[in-house]
Amino acid sequence: MASIGAAAVTTEFLRPRVLFEPATAFAVGPPDAIEVGAVLDFPDHHAFVLRMADGFRAMSSVCTHLGCITRYQPDAHLIACPCHGSRFALDGEVVAGPAPRPLHWLEMFLSDKGLVMVDTAVEVPLGTVYKL
Ligand code: FES
Repeated sequence: MASIGAAAVTTEFLRPRVLFEPATAFAVGPPDAIEVGAVLDFPDHHAFVLRMADGFRAMSSVCTHLGCITRYQPDAHLIACPCHGSRFALDGEVVAGPAPRPLHWLEMFLSDKGLVMVDTAVEVPLGTVYKL
């Protein structure tokens, strides 16, 4: 009986251990479900997704000052940081400091299932627009 237990322990020890990293990409939805002019705030993913007439873009919602999470202010039509008052235009450019740089733009792609995806770990040049 002890040998069976030892074999089980050995088998468990030899099995490869796979550590899955948290996914950095998240699904927004089907492209047709996102209206032109939409500004979508994904606080859990620290990202915004915008669809304009020319296509999709995604930006980080992490403030470039000290890293607070910004929020979209629909009434003012801009992005605001609650910590020290920085304001960003919808293209991520700084409208009011102290943020020293625009919000980072993020990679987008279409999943195998046809969903708009954002990868929060991949920064792309400002102004990168995706036709999805
Ligand atoms: Fe956003 Fe300071 S962290 S303005």
